[in-house]
Amino acid sequence: MKPSFDVLGKEERRPHPAARRRRLFPRIRVVVVLLAVVYALYCYLFSKPLLAHPLPRHTGPYAVGAIDIEAPVSPPRTIHQARFKGTNEKAFELQTVLFTLYYPATYAAATSSRTKRHTWVPEPLSLRARGYARAAHISNWFTDRLFTIAINALVGGITIPAAVSVPLSSHATPTSQDKNAGEGKEHVLTSEDGPSGGYPVIIFSHGTVSARTDYSHYAGELAARGHIVVMLEHRDGSSPGTIIRQHGQPNRTRLLFDVSEVETPDQSLSLTVEEFHQAQLNFRQAEIEEAVRVIKLINTGYGALVFSENPHNEGPDLANWANRLNTHAMVVAGHSYGATGALQALRGGPTPERPFRGAIVLDPGKQSGPLNADVRVPLLVVHSNSWSSHSSVLYDGRAHFDTVKDIVVKNNERGNPSWFMTSIGTSHPSVTDAPLLEPFLLSFTTGATIDVYQGLRQYVHVAEDFLAFLAGGEVRGLMAEKAEFPQYDEGTVLGMGKPGQGGKGVVEDLKQGEWADWRRYWQIHVSPAGNAEKRES
Ligand SMILES: *[C@@H]1O[C@H](CO)[C@@H](O)[C@H](O)[C@H]1NC(C)=O
Repeated sequence: MKPSFDVLGKEERRPHPAARRRRLFPRIRVVVVLLAVVYALYCYLFSKPLLAHPLPRHTGPYAVGAIDIEAPVSPPRTIHQARFKGTNEKAFELQTVLFTLYYPATYAAATSSRTKRHTWVPEPLSLRARGYARAAHISNWFTDRLFTIAINALVGGITIPAAVSVPLSSHATPTSQDKNAGEGKEHVLTSEDGPSGGYPVIIFSHGTVSARTDYSHYAGELAARGHIVVMLEHRDGSSPGTIIRQHGQPNRTRLLFDVSEVETPDQSLSLTVEEFHQAQLNFRQAEIEEAVRVIKLINTGYGALVFSENPHNEGPDLANWANRLNTHAMVVAGHSYGATGALQALRGGPTPERPFRGAIVLDPGKQSGPLNADVRVPLLVVHSNSWSSHSSVLYDGRAHFDTVKDIVVKNNERGNPSWFMTSIGTSHPSVTDAPLLEPFLLSFTTGATIDVYQGLRQYVHVAEDFLAFLAGGEVRGLMAEKAEFPQYDEGTVLGMGKPGQGGKGVVEDLKQGEWADWRRYWQIHVSPAGNAEKRES
């Protein structure tokens, strides 16, 4: 079988990237313009809105709060020695960590809040636009401005429906971790790990060409269900455009960059693609560890310090967050490149720097280097439909699907309950906000067939069930189901999402309310409940 993605290592035999790009540029430019015209025409003919839809409100028992936090790292450090060609500036120097906290808030505080909401594209818009233009390899004076105008027109007015800087809801039980070790009863994530009440914390790592606002709905939905989500913005060259801010220092901008733009400092050698990816993943891991450190600071009563150092001036209430978070047993999650990063963060763990007792791995990377198999905690791996259906060969010559499945199977064998499943009808960006904002454009370009709200809801439900399992050991909903599809099943409808997979007798089988028709949405490949006889379809 011919690999459909770049196999790492073959990179050198290809034509020089610059030459390749020169050939590709005009063509891509024409394609982009054509697509835009076709899309505008389509919207006009079918009376679809050209501009983005507003983001939907969150559902769930809690209102959702949001705080942007940027904290100086301790100590600032260079993760990899690579420098930018030309400027000689270090490419992988970690100075601050940036994330949005999405958290449960009380309704009264959230509805009466007058603080300005976060915009979906943070200011300045032109920075994000330049990043997208770079990602499309068409960045120049003209296209940067064109992209800025387009982004402003499409999503410039979109805000995230979370109340900024409102107090944390007081409904979760305070932790008793230091005082009464051994007595805590509530919110225990793993039994052998002692008491740890308080809100569970999820650290989330985004995919490539993404930023901290791209998953706002998914994060907000988990917050509305009683979780604290730390949505990172990585400064490893994978965000379109991000500003590094620190009190008393000038702003520094970091645009998307790739391997061709950096070199080693000593002999001015280029990095290999593998080295570049490893540098990025190590950078991400350092950012994850720094986020853990900041969350622990807040939980040990240093919320006022974190607020005072925060150049975004958000979170005066952090001073009241002491002992209200479960920092003993966090969860790490990620999408795409971020999922590869989340797996890496489990290596050798759990450790005090990476106290992760479980991981949610969404569409783990196909081109982001080896997937870490040294996992010692429960895993939930979810593939979008397109991720499972496009077979691709990994660095080790194996099919991506098989490598992922192997990690989950072996982890179960080691006694860590783990799941691997495909979400039917979805495509790679289904868990992001993109389909909510532009449902037609996204279905049109990625082939997702599921209703966008339903797609995200399914992702939220399965995460919720997995988090409930981590918190209390309860095996419910999809977690209790057996694996019916050891391999992904294309189905019969032209390889598209096939509703009603498994078909018969579904409702009688399950007395599970919202999960009654789960087979419309899922194929389970690995489950601790074991394998089922394959159903007739
Ligand atoms: C840094 O950038 C932010 C966001 O654009 C801006 O609000 C702030 O004033 C800038 N700070 C400095 C010191 O330039």
